[in-house]
Amino acid sequence: MIIKKLNETEELPMELLLLADPSENIVKEYTARGECFVAELEKKIVGIYVLLPTRPETVELVNLAVAEELHGKGIGKQLVMDAVKVAKEKGYKTIEVGTGNSGVGQLALYQKCGFRIVGVDLDFFVRHYPEEIVENGIQCRDMIRLSQDI
Ligand SMILES: CC(C)(COP(=O)(O)OP(=O)(O)OC[C@H]1O[C@@H](n2cnc3c(N)ncnc32)[C@H](O)[C@@H]1OP(=O)(O)O)[C@@H](O)C(=O)NCCC(=O)NCCS
Repeated sequence: MIIKKLNETEELPMELLLLADPSENIVKEYTARGECFVAELEKKIVGIYVLLPTRPETVELVNLAVAEELHGKGIGKQLVMDAVKVAKEKGYKTIEVGTGNSGVGQLALYQKCGFRIVGVDLDFFVRHYPEEIVENGIQCRDMIRLSQDI
């Protein structure tokens, strides 16, 4: 598997991106403002993440997704570790990520990759998404903010 930057001329793997965020508008905004990186296996895109510059020296990891049939094989972890490495190489000092309160696996993954919980954006998903989101039998209401100094 290789992880590489997606060229601006290449088509966005929208189906994959929508796994991480149900809002096509938000996905389009993030991918336009950030840099997209993809994991390719046998010439097929199987994973993606976007690095979005936010504040000075700070970048946010957004839109992390792995093709559903390949979940649980370590690809997500490789992508998160790659995002940390790339952010460091680009000279950022802090990398942040946000995930829903119901994202039990995502919270485990980010903490295994060195992120620590630094805050909660209460009712973020209620305010920004028209449809109710339920994951692991838990309503996704709040955004858990995680951060890592690099
Ligand atoms: C989140 C996602 C990217 C993870 O990708 P993946 O390839 O399945 O993840 P990995 O196989 O690398 O596993 C990630 C790690 O989290 C751990 N993990 C996952 N669920 C866990 C749980 N419930 N408890 C403890 N650890 C858990 C795994 O054990 C693994 O750690 P390990 O390598 O130390 O065993 C993938 O599930 C996905 O695309 N989901 C839909 C989109 C999404 O939710 N994106 C994130 C938006 S915030």
